[in-house]
Amino acid sequence: MPSALPLGLPAPADGVLPEHTANGANARNFGLYVHIPFCAVRCGYCDFNTYTATELGGGASQDEYAGTARQELTFAAGALSASGVPRRPMSTVFFGGGTPTLLPARDLAGILASAVELWGLVPGAEVTTEANPDSVTEESLQVLAAAGFTRVSFGMQSAVPHVLQVLDRTHSPERVPQAVEWARRAGLKVSIDLIYGTPGESMTDWRTSLETALSYGPDHVSAYALIIEEGTKLAGRIRRGEVPAIDDDDHADKYAVADEKLGAGGLHWYEVSNWALSVDDQCRHNLAYWKGDDWWGIGPGAHSHVGGVRWWNAKHPRAYAAALDAGSSPAAGREVLSARDRYVEDVMLRVRLREGLPTATLEPEGRRAVAGLIADRLVEPVDAFRGLVRLTDGGRLLADAVVRRLLPD
Ligand SMILES: C[S@@+](CC[C@H](N)C(=O)[O-])C[C@H]1O[C@@H](n2cnc3c(N)ncnc32)[C@H](O)[C@@H]1O
Ligand code: SF4
Repeated sequence: MPSALPLGLPAPADGVLPEHTANGANARNFGLYVHIPFCAVRCGYCDFNTYTATELGGGASQDEYAGTARQELTFAAGALSASGVPRRPMSTVFFGGGTPTLLPARDLAGILASAVELWGLVPGAEVTTEANPDSVTEESLQVLAAAGFTRVSFGMQSAVPHVLQVLDRTHSPERVPQAVEWARRAGLKVSIDLIYGTPGESMTDWRTSLETALSYGPDHVSAYALIIEEGTKLAGRIRRGEVPAIDDDDHADKYAVADEKLGAGGLHWYEVSNWALSVDDQCRHNLAYWKGDDWWGIGPGAHSHVGGVRWWNAKHPRAYAAALDAGSSPAAGREVLSARDRYVEDVMLRVRLREGLPTATLEPEGRRAVAGLIADRLVEPVDAFRGLVRLTDGGRLLADAVVRRLLPD
């Protein structure tokens, strides 16, 4: 089951934002996220807001989805202009899911074309789609590249069949190099998602996955520790003792191996879970989230953020489509971030970046914590001297603990 949305203030039906959201907008990048809430099969570990054909029921369908997403694009452009937020071309576009590539490539291309018609794209904009290796063909990737997509992010997760089986992945390992090769031929940059710490995964299995992913020559890798989400099939299997529980020490050891291998393969960390060949290969869309830029999130359950106001859409595709059909905002709730909320988020997200968090932006108690973090070898002393809180290799393993010390209650 997908997880629940946060509670918040009611969102107005016309989607108009408070006046202050326009302040300084020209200095912030504008991005677009498009959520595609469909998967062929639900992986046992995943609680993303996504639906298989059987889970979806009537009243919402994959065939109609591109049209519904376009309705929200038009609504978004109207609401932003009525709010006085200046229209800026999009710096980044990201189609995520679910499995975006479960929709025909012409539908994804059509949604992108409608967005470009409304806002335009900055020169050299980054346009990414997530994809399952078994939901693309050489032709579909060619269509996406011709439509303006620049990057594809494949959910590889592991190269080891018994690990893929515990994760309920549908693709066979051989499918990944084929999909990567097609993407390259189409001129797309390639990112690979990996998961470590799956029950039953040995260190040798994890090394194999890393080496195999590197052998495909990706420009970017995201490596995530498996999170056991409550209510998922995998959580139930662990509770019943059918598969072993996960272990934090195992996660830490595997993170260290990932960093060592990816580094040796020429990929450098730029965020705790993300490595790229060069600065140009970093995911600019995610960086925009982490740095508090503006973005509109299209689709059921999608989150948006403009100038310190955040909102999120109705979660079920049927409720989402019904709101748009009625000419209303599909938002289910929103919140106006206080200065304190923004400060806390900024510390939490920026400390995870290699570029570091400027010490000068910290409140006094956060600045006082830095000396102790240096003494505990969690923060780089030379960078701290230059006015930046930057995690050491050991600090990356304990990023959450560092955040707690920078933000004492
Ligand atoms: C929307 S999915 C990517 C696209 C595509 N649906 C796929 O899975 O191949 C985004 C990524 O989130 C990660 N992910 C999802 N659930 C996770 C969990 N419980 N723990 C860790 N990573 C997770 C996976 O690595 C996945 O590739
Ligand atoms: S394919 Fe991706 S989004 Fe769909 S259930 Fe699996 S991990 Fe989640």
